Amino acid sequence: MKKNRFSKKWLNEHLHDPFVKQAQKDHYRSRAVYKLQEIDEAHRLVRPGQFIVELGSAPGAWSQYLARRLGSDAGGALRGRVLALDLLPMEPVEGVEFIQGDFREAEVLRHIEGLLAGRRVDLVLSDMAPNLSGIASADAARVEHLADLALEFAGQWLTEEGSLLIKTFHSGFFSQIVARYKQRFRSVKTLKPKASRERSAEVFVLAMHPKPDGDE
Ligand SMILES: C[S@@+](CC[C@H](N)C(=O)[O-])C[C@H]1O[C@@H](n2cnc3c(N)ncnc32)[C@H](O)[C@@H]1O
Repeated sequence: MKKNRFSKKWLNEHLHDPFVKQAQKDHYRSRAVYKLQEIDEAHRLVRPGQFIVELGSAPGAWSQYLARRLGSDAGGALRGRVLALDLLPMEPVEGVEFIQGDFREAEVLRHIEGLLAGRRVDLVLSDMAPNLSGIASADAARVEHLADLALEFAGQWLTEEGSLLIKTFHSGFFSQIVARYKQRFRSVKTLKPKASRERSAEVFVLAMHPKPDGDE
């Protein structure tokens, strides 16, 4: 009974959400796209020609946005490259290479690195969100783990001018996450785009200008 009431409330909110309506109009798979769009428009993250790795990509709205922003050349190929990863399957997005796997697994990381073939990446985006258990300390640790893995990956693969954008949450370890990002990047900003619901603890961290190794 309680669950039903909650579902109705959620459905009602969802149906009246301007970002949901906009996503339908723009033929995006989810309203999540407007979080990325707002950050991109303010910070000029996405540019044609870039090599982008996108973590936690399903159902694919960010991938659609990236494909549209990169556009295609005369041969119909993307001007740039997008490698997208998710635990779940994802309907194909034209021009985007998709890998299904868990970013926490070493084998999956090796697979991604194999596809990079030594080429550095201009932009790493993560919209990954862990499955929550409801146990605050365990959930905070999962959030922190994903943020650390994204940081490690970016530290190894970003170009000197590259950027890293992650979604994370105001959990117990938030300040430690930001502190670790600041050790590795000259500019670290915390962002709450309009499409991110006020009541949600989610927040984005944008890290730009990686520090050279050893320059902490
Ligand atoms: C909010 S959704 C992403 C929405 C996406 N940005 C879009 O625009 O359609 C978060 C995604 O992160 C994925 N995810 C969570 N943990 C992951 C992990 N360890 N490895 C890969 N994907 C993960 C989930 O499966 C889920 O699809």
